[in-house]
Amino acid sequence: MRKIQVRIFDNAETAAVYSAAIVEQVIRSKPKSVLGLATGSTPIALYKQLVDFHRSGLSMAGVTTINLDEYVGLAPDHPQSYSYYMHHHLFDHVDIPESQIHLLRGDAEDLEQECQRYDNIIRSHTIDLQILGIGVNGHIGFNEPDSALKANTHVVQLAPETIQANSRFFTAEETVPTQAITVGLQAILLAKQVLLLAFGKEKAKVIYEAVKGDVRTSLPASLLQVHPNVTFVLDRAAAEVLIEHGFYTSTPPRA
Ligand code: PGA
Repeated sequence: MRKIQVRIFDNAETAAVYSAAIVEQVIRSKPKSVLGLATGSTPIALYKQLVDFHRSGLSMAGVTTINLDEYVGLAPDHPQSYSYYMHHHLFDHVDIPESQIHLLRGDAEDLEQECQRYDNIIRSHTIDLQILGIGVNGHIGFNEPDSALKANTHVVQLAPETIQANSRFFTAEETVPTQAITVGLQAILLAKQVLLLAFGKEKAKVIYEAVKGDVRTSLPASLLQVHPNVTFVLDRAAAEVLIEHGFYTSTPPRA
């Protein structure tokens, strides 16, 4: 049985270089690749690296992107929206045509219709490489821990720990949205290849559970264990509990 591959780097920067090299490899082998993209603080270093790769000659003109999620109620030009984030960190600096960029509209009047619109986009594409972060509670996208998970794009009530974690991006006067739209587990699990990035010691426990624990809906990232091509790209802090339990990729990571 295939296991989740784990790569442990000394720091987030080298992990981001490795991740960007994988993205480049995917694009080079198939210029019209479809990338599933994530937001949050974790992939910022990856996007920065991709911008550098683009400046040094990598064209992304054939690439199509599909983002994972968006806050309900935020318009694309809201500085905390994921649409704004993606333009700020990546799209404004590379050559992906706007028509090949797919983002959810958190300010859609009819959210159900917006979910259906997005599912139609997902159905008509095969994601070659899905980039993921992970929540401290094990969410992927905004698929929060629950007794049952959804396959399709849906509106979700954010978990208190997610609201708490994301409040750091909002000023004191701003209220953190409590709902989001997210792609479901199907879009993620049907991607040909998945790269999950996690940095920092606050992720160490959930990473251990996702890699070594039982597959369970109370820890959505554990479902990645059933996918045939998943790599977790970690810094040493996020790998701490794995290492404590004797997990080494090949030779023990340098002290
Ligand atoms: P973070 O978020 O990268 O800001 O830690 C990850 C996530 O919630 O998926």
